[in-house]
Amino acid sequence: MIATKWLLGITGGIAAYKAPELVRLLKKQGADVRVVLSQGAKAFVTPMTLQAVSGHPVYSELLDPDFEAAMGHIELARWAEGIVIAPLSANRLAALAHGHADDLLTTLCLASTAPIWVVPAMNQQMWHHPATQANITILKDRGAVVIGPGWGEQACGEIGLGRMSEPQDIVNQLFPMYQPMKEQEANLQGLRILISAGPTREAIDPVRYISNRSSGKMGFALAQAAATLGAQVSLISGPVNLASPHGVERIDVMSANEMYNAVMTKAQDADIFISAAAVADFAVEKALSQKIKKAGATGLQLNLVATPDILAKVAALPKPPFCVGFAAETEQPEQYAKKKLQEKHLDLIAVNDVSREDIGFDVNVNELTVLSQHKTFHIPKNTKYQISLKLLQIIRECYDTKNKIKNS
Ligand code: CTP
Repeated sequence: MIATKWLLGITGGIAAYKAPELVRLLKKQGADVRVVLSQGAKAFVTPMTLQAVSGHPVYSELLDPDFEAAMGHIELARWAEGIVIAPLSANRLAALAHGHADDLLTTLCLASTAPIWVVPAMNQQMWHHPATQANITILKDRGAVVIGPGWGEQACGEIGLGRMSEPQDIVNQLFPMYQPMKEQEANLQGLRILISAGPTREAIDPVRYISNRSSGKMGFALAQAAATLGAQVSLISGPVNLASPHGVERIDVMSANEMYNAVMTKAQDADIFISAAAVADFAVEKALSQKIKKAGATGLQLNLVATPDILAKVAALPKPPFCVGFAAETEQPEQYAKKKLQEKHLDLIAVNDVSREDIGFDVNVNELTVLSQHKTFHIPKNTKYQISLKLLQIIRECYDTKNKIKNS
């Protein structure tokens, strides 16, 4: 489906003067455009101009009785098939990234499920600031598409990155991108997907534990992407510092044994199990109930015992779900992963080269090689959310092929 109902958000910045031209070009593509102005935007472009070019009233107040009596902000959020924010200021970017609902535009973005494109425009120092870059990464991870900014002379007289992309370039990106993205995405309606994520924590005593560097970001991105594509998702998570993905059932666990019990309870009813958790392979045989004291000790020996291999146990069920593993490797990634695929009887395994600092642990980007018995797929470096969309597409295809073979 190509979006025809576009919500254009305009925030405060000199580039807002280009917004009426953007409305005109969107309308030329057959789009119905409703405009929302932030408070700051009104200093740079008038509602009257935008009303004239869009053919609709322009909205800017969150608490506006006339607007609520007419369309209302929830109705407008539901109406939009695509949201584009141009220009997006550093301030409104921060508000969006952190889920604020302090004006009409940010509230609409929270209340809408429509895909979002953002077109940042700001002073080049502000663009390069780590806070701005972190905020942009948050939006990208959530699936927003960022257009620009461009390089060149700025209104403030500086030269650098931060100029808003030209309206025609924005429209060129909005329209061709929408369809291919949708076509590439798997439809996961009707599928029950179980995902494990994050590390596990194995207690030594009441204050100490053994764990690993997993942040849970890959598993959470997969859960968010799978839910967005229509799946019914259960997420079993070790201790992580991440917000629950929207529309996902989340069950928090601590140790490998707790994760094992939670996964086994859910696995019977799952069509697909994606084991993204970095489960501790060993736990302390008998965690102490009191804190270990160092007084007088010159060393300490801990007796470790193997934890259950959750993924292998799920794959060994009489009627196992389609099983997808992750292999975190520091050397010969594909050889070791292939071995795990075979030994654990998996349908697919995604290989993470954790010796690379630029991908994997605790960062928002990743790059994967995905192996089945007979095929190899490569997913190039991208945000974990975009990687998830691609991985879910591969899973969907392989899942369908397996079912076809089973039923033939
Ligand atoms: N896994 C699991 N339960 C465990 C250990 C691992 O479910 N106790 C799953 C992980 O979630 C991952 C896959 O098995 O999907 C491979 O994990 P990895 O740690 O790379 O492999 P291991 O089998 O533990 O082998 P090794 O640590 O020796 O590389």
